[in-house]
Amino acid sequence: MVNCWLGIIILYFLLLLNCHQSTATPSRRIIYRFTDCNAEQLQHLPKLAAVYELSAVTCNISTLPNAYFTRFTTLAALEVRESGLSKIEDNALSGLDRLQWLSLPWNYITSVKPWCQTSLKALHTLDLEGNAVKALTVESFVRFPNLQYLSLASNMLERIDDAIFIHLPHLKHLNLANNRLSVIDASYFRGMQHLAHLSLQNNAIERISADSFASNTHLRSLLLNGNKLQDLDFLSSRALPRLLHLNVSHNQIETATVFGSGAGEGGEWALIDLDLSWNRLGEIKVETLSGLSGILYLNLSANTIRLVAASCLDNLINLETIDLSANNLTRLPAGLFATTTQLQRVNLSRNALTVIQADLFARLPYLRTLDMSQNQLSSGAFIAHLSPLLPHFALTLDISENHLTRFDGDAMAALEVSAASVDLSGNWWHCQWLIAELVRAPAHFHFGRNYSLAASWSEALLNVSGIDCYDAERERSIVVLDAGRLWERRYSKGDTECSTFVAPAIPTPPPLAWPRVRMDRFDSRSIIIWMLIAIGLAFAGLRIARQLIDRREQHRRSKKLRAMKAEELSRLTTSVKVKSNEEQN
Ligand SMILES: *[C@@H]1O[C@H](CO)[C@@H](O)[C@H](O)[C@H]1NC(C)=O
Ligand SMILES: *[C@@H]1O[C@H](CO)[C@@H](O)[C@H](O)[C@H]1NC(C)=O
Ligand SMILES: *[C@@H]1O[C@H](CO)[C@@H](O)[C@H](O)[C@H]1NC(C)=O
Ligand SMILES: *[C@@H]1O[C@H](CO)[C@@H](O)[C@H](O)[C@H]1NC(C)=O
Ligand SMILES: *[C@@H]1O[C@H](CO)[C@@H](O)[C@H](O)[C@H]1NC(C)=O
Ligand SMILES: *[C@@H]1O[C@H](CO)[C@@H](O)[C@H](O)[C@H]1NC(C)=O
Ligand SMILES: *[C@@H]1O[C@H](CO)[C@@H](O)[C@H](O)[C@H]1NC(C)=O
Repeated sequence: MVNCWLGIIILYFLLLLNCHQSTATPSRRIIYRFTDCNAEQLQHLPKLAAVYELSAVTCNISTLPNAYFTRFTTLAALEVRESGLSKIEDNALSGLDRLQWLSLPWNYITSVKPWCQTSLKALHTLDLEGNAVKALTVESFVRFPNLQYLSLASNMLERIDDAIFIHLPHLKHLNLANNRLSVIDASYFRGMQHLAHLSLQNNAIERISADSFASNTHLRSLLLNGNKLQDLDFLSSRALPRLLHLNVSHNQIETATVFGSGAGEGGEWALIDLDLSWNRLGEIKVETLSGLSGILYLNLSANTIRLVAASCLDNLINLETIDLSANNLTRLPAGLFATTTQLQRVNLSRNALTVIQADLFARLPYLRTLDMSQNQLSSGAFIAHLSPLLPHFALTLDISENHLTRFDGDAMAALEVSAASVDLSGNWWHCQWLIAELVRAPAHFHFGRNYSLAASWSEALLNVSGIDCYDAERERSIVVLDAGRLWERRYSKGDTECSTFVAPAIPTPPPLAWPRVRMDRFDSRSIIIWMLIAIGLAFAGLRIARQLIDRREQHRRSKKLRAMKAEELSRLTTSVKVKSNEEQN
């Protein structure tokens, strides 16, 4: 039996004690950690009176009977996880006067009760995540007066009795996520003055009474994402003065008026991040966000926003990130980003934008990421007007899948210096312009996309990088960028075929069969033409590059020669001078 315990004991620690605890606690702290044990084994441990921490994970402990822990007089942390625990008798926790952490997650506990006669005054953390608690009642927390952290996440809570958390005046974190709450009553969180973090995400909350958070003046983060809220009016009666993080993503919110500076007597909001993504907002009015002057992060992605008022961001002078992607914007008002000079990340992807005012981003020197992909832009004129203070190679620009046909020289020049990476794929480029630019464009311009090609000489689909382009008649073609690699692959395939025992004949040149594009609708003749052009361009590029290098080399050599001559000359003249001086003397 002893061997058995020893085998199961994973850790046995000696820890020196802090002086202020020295009188009462023995000088050694024992930590027992078990996996796959049973209830019996926990009772027959040596030195129960010195156990500081006891942990049982994936054990077989269906019941905690009365007085089970009476001999664990110094136990501070108790964990019973994933162990089939379904019954905790009324006095099971008696005697655990020093218990600080009680963690019983992923069991089958159905109700929260005091589980002892005297208060567990030292207990500050109670974790009951992943159980089957359906309701909390008045008596649930009467014996845990100093609790600071309570998790009942992933239970089956449908109902909470009035003001039961009033017994937990010191609670700072309350996690009720992943339950079945449908209504938040004004009384639920009353009197919880120290509550700082409240998690209510992924319930089925449709309604939150006004005044629900009236007494939670220290609330800093409130998570309500994944519910069924239709408005945010519960926040309007009294602004939460210290709320910093609010997540109401994935709800059904159609109007949000509470963030206007005029609304509510609470005055300004302290919010620094607000996630309103995946709702049903249709419009951002002038005053919709005007009370959020401290906000850094604003996510309005995946709504149905069609209209944005020109001055709606005017007060948001600290804003660093704005996500307006996946909305129904067709245009943005001039001056939208006139005062938000701290902006670093802007996402306008997946809208229906057709034009962008040339100077829309002109005042954003900190801009680092700009995503304009999947719109209908036909002009990139705004690129030439990015902030002149933008550092070199700082911007990541995605302008893929728009309707661009060409960029003018100014835009290309601006991108060459300011952008670290530019995605230009999936536009309607003019073939002629494209070919000319391909020769010049630096490596951080990405025109290409991946295409799958079927070829007669390969069973697998070939992945090639190519670009769509259109000629004057709007006929579509593909320029294959890595045609050279295709040839390579083809030849290397020939080699493997030769490595059989058959006497290797001289490999015959492969018949001229070009890859066929799977996604039809392409004119395969034009593909061939463009492939040839691409190959030609590659060679031409190489030749030009070599010439350039040669010329530069020559230039460098002649420069060096000239410098040497000049040096020689000056040496001669000085020596002549010295001589003439000597002669004068
Ligand atoms: C758990 O222990 C009980 C006895 O305490 C036993 O009847 C039951 O079979 C055990 N369950 C498992 C899964 O080992
Ligand atoms: C808000 O919640 C969603 C999940 O619903 C999550 O994906 C998102 O990251 C959260 N937002 C913030 C700012 O944490
Ligand atoms: C905004 O929210 C969406 C959806 O929740 C998410 O995919 C996106 O990453 C968020 N944007 C930012 C900038 O965090
Ligand atoms: C912009 O938003 C889209 C869709 O919401 C997302 O797919 C994309 O990754 C985002 N872009 C950046 C740069 O975060
Ligand atoms: C908004 O855009 C989505 C697709 O992004 C579309 O399904 C929806 O019909 C549009 N709604 C309006 C009101 O235009
Ligand atoms: C194309 O595929 C290659 C790998 O085969 C990958 O590294 C590259 O990122 C892909 N390019 C695009 C634009 O998807
Ligand atoms: C091409 O890419 C597809 C997935 O996009 C992959 O399944 C396939 O194996 C790739 N073929 C080759 C020859 O790399």
